[in-house]
Amino acid sequence: MKNTMGINWKNLLTLVLAVGGASMLITQAPANDEAIFPMPAGKTYVNECGSCHTAYAPGLLPIRSWRKMMNEMDNHFGEDASLSEPDRLEITKSLEILAADDIQATQRMRRINSAIPANAVPQRITETGYFKFMHDEVRPSIWKRKKIGTLANCIACHPRANEGRYGEREIRIPQQ
Ligand code: HEC
Ligand code: HEC
Repeated sequence: MKNTMGINWKNLLTLVLAVGGASMLITQAPANDEAIFPMPAGKTYVNECGSCHTAYAPGLLPIRSWRKMMNEMDNHFGEDASLSEPDRLEITKSLEILAADDIQATQRMRRINSAIPANAVPQRITETGYFKFMHDEVRPSIWKRKKIGTLANCIACHPRANEGRYGEREIRIPQQ
C-alpha cells in the first residue's frame, strides 16, 4: 500500500535504518577504532600502581577482579604491595568506575568483558581471552627480548600505555 508521497513502508524503514546506522557509526567510531582506555584522574594511580609495572588500564578487567586484587595487596603476586588506606580506597573506586563491565564502558571494554566467563575472577590481564586474541601473533622469541621480558610489560611495546593508549599506530616493539 502506498501513502500519498509514494513511499511505501518498507522503503521508509530502510531509510530510517540507514540514517540511524550511520549516526551510530559516527558517534561510536573513536571507541571502536582506537584502542584508548579511560584512566583514573590525578597521579595517585600511576604513582602507586605504575611503579613496579605498567599502570594497567582499568577497562582491561571487570569490577570483581579489581575488588579482589585491591583486597589482597599485601600478597600481590607474591609481593607485599600494600598502600595507605586512603590511597587504597581512592584507587579501588577509580578502578571500579572505569572497569570493563561498568555501565559507561566503551564498545572495546564490553568486548573484553564478554570474553570473560561470568564465574571467573581473572587477576591477570594477560590471561584474558581478549588479550590472548590480540597478541597471538607476537612470538615468545619477541616478548622474551631483554627490553620486554614478559607480555605483562605492556609499556615496552605500547609506550603510552600509562595514558591508556594502546592504538596500533603507537606500537613500538624493541629490537633487543
Ligand atoms: C611492589 C611492586 C608492585 C606494586 C606497587 C604493584 N604491583 Fe601489580 N604486580 C607486581 C608483580 C610482581 C606482578 C606479577 C608480574 C608477573 O608475574 O609477571 C604484578 C602483576 C599485576 C597484574 C597482572 C598483570 C598480568 O600478568 O596481566 C595486575 C593487573 C596488577 N599487578 C595490578 C596492580 C595494581 C592495580 C596496583 C596498584 C594498586 C599494583 N599492581 C601495584 C608488583 C607490583
Ligand atoms: C611484545 C610487545 C607487546 C607487549 C609486551 C604488549 N603488546 Fe599489546 N600489542 C602488541 C602488538 C604487536 C599488537 C597488534 C596486534 C595486531 O594488530 O595484530 C598489540 C595490540 C594490542 C591491543 C589492541 C590494539 C588495537 O588497535 O586494537 C591492545 C588493547 C593491547 N595490545 C594491549 C596490551 C596490554 C594491556 C599489554 C600488557 C598487559 C600489552 N598489550 C602488551 C604488542 C605488545
